[in-house]
Amino acid sequence: MKDMLKKVLIMFIGIVCLFYNTSAQTTELSKADNPYMITTKVPQRPNGQQDVIQLTAPKLEVVRVGFIGLGMRGPGAVKRFTHIPGTEIKALCDIRPERVEVAQNILKEAKLPQAAAYSDSEDAWKALCERDDIDLVYIATDWKHHVPMALYAMEQGKHVAVEVPGAMTLEDIWALIDMSEKTRQHCMMLENCVYDYFELTTLNMAQQGLFGEIMHVEGSYIHNLEEFWTAYWNNWRMQYNKEHRGDIYPTHGMGPACQLLDIHRGDKMNYLVSMDTKAVGGPAMYKKIHGEEAKDFQNGDHTMTMIRTEQGKTIHIQHDVVSPRPYSRMYQLTGTKGFANKYPKEGYAFPSTEATKDVAPDLEDLNAHTFVPEAIKDTLMKKYQHPIQKIWAEKAKQVGGHGGMDFIMDARLVYCLQNGLPLDMDVYDLAEWSCLPALTALSIEHNSAPVAIPDFTRGSWNKVKGYKHAMKAE
Ligand SMILES: NC(=O)c1ccc[n+]([C@@H]2O[C@H](COP(=O)([O-])OP(=O)(O)OC[C@H]3O[C@@H](n4cnc5c(N)ncnc54)[C@H](O)[C@@H]3O)[C@@H](O)[C@H]2O)c1
Repeated sequence: MKDMLKKVLIMFIGIVCLFYNTSAQTTELSKADNPYMITTKVPQRPNGQQDVIQLTAPKLEVVRVGFIGLGMRGPGAVKRFTHIPGTEIKALCDIRPERVEVAQNILKEAKLPQAAAYSDSEDAWKALCERDDIDLVYIATDWKHHVPMALYAMEQGKHVAVEVPGAMTLEDIWALIDMSEKTRQHCMMLENCVYDYFELTTLNMAQQGLFGEIMHVEGSYIHNLEEFWTAYWNNWRMQYNKEHRGDIYPTHGMGPACQLLDIHRGDKMNYLVSMDTKAVGGPAMYKKIHGEEAKDFQNGDHTMTMIRTEQGKTIHIQHDVVSPRPYSRMYQLTGTKGFANKYPKEGYAFPSTEATKDVAPDLEDLNAHTFVPEAIKDTLMKKYQHPIQKIWAEKAKQVGGHGGMDFIMDARLVYCLQNGLPLDMDVYDLAEWSCLPALTALSIEHNSAPVAIPDFTRGSWNKVKGYKHAMKAE
């Protein structure tokens, strides 16, 4: 009996070791610091390579662009670029020729020359990247193609703008960082939600100190994708949800939150914990689409993540794309002197009359437990309109793209390239906002254990103090 027990014990230890070794391929426990913290490997920066904090590149009088990926999202970007002076659309690529035609028609309508077309083969995009008359490669494909395309484009000496999330694995994130550092090419993720009106205005208010010290921020992607699932090329999005646990679409919540907290501009994210519900809505949707049961569907209906920063701030991020809920990116901030909230109701709250004393006629109405009255909110939003809104908001409303924020994003990208300025979002923003798919999965798979968030700047997170949009000197 004793022998038998011993054998069972040895077998059990063997199984545990086997499991531990398998997961140790990508993770290792840093026992010295915290026996419960999962850490991931930070590749050493190659000798001679430097960070790309505040990266600038030679001014481009005309920004010549090639687009890859012209499905639901891509053609809107082509259209927006037809409205941005100082740009030329040189090339268009989609594996499906009919999608390239859609984009060519946009150029025709705008009375612009037809662009060179790349199509029909899986690798046709490579020839687009190799052209010597292109400065910027703009990528709006499914998630799995983002990284090989971005890496190749930078290798060919092109700046890259890539849709969200920029990358889905840590290996890919580090590869993009290394390539941007090595080639000194910009690698910007096209996170449009940081340019929405409420977010930009609130960021400006925060930077002017209206909310005091910002302690906690929230963001989410809560969007019932029911009407979209079947429209994605080759069903890539449902497939990704089927195969992956964790918050796989975090950047719309993360972007605004991280800009408010000056992440890698004076603060850095230290660790996260994540938890999900079981998967019910996802597999039901899969069955509706495919007519068969989804075996082993991974993505939980609702995933929530909490992050703590070096400066003692917290971030709460949520993901839910299958429940019958109203759309919400949450966007909420709590500061020592004020509060802002976007969904479901936009509003500001302040404990005293300080913040509004020179704009509010009826100061008595202010109350720490309610939002300020609508009229005061509107006056505040006018007073604190962000400087970049002052330049681009009017045109953005005409051109459109999620109410105008997409246009401001593209216009800012072009403006910074034309003026040789650092872009609004660098490759470390891409890394920080896109690391959640990998890191939340690790946490969830280990009973919500804390997972260290790497310092993607490899030591440079405190070089710049405070987030800023670069502007040329007048
Ligand atoms: N920022 C936002 O608000 C927002 C909104 C929607 C989508 N997106 C992002 O945009 C991207 C595209 O999403 P979508 O909804 O347009 O998906 P989609 O499936 O409609 O489009 C993807 C396109 O990529 C093309 N493609 C696939 N493989 C290719 C290859 N080898 N070469 C060239 N083209 C190839 C497909 O033919 C398809 O047209 C995703 O990253 C998504 O997350 C962002």
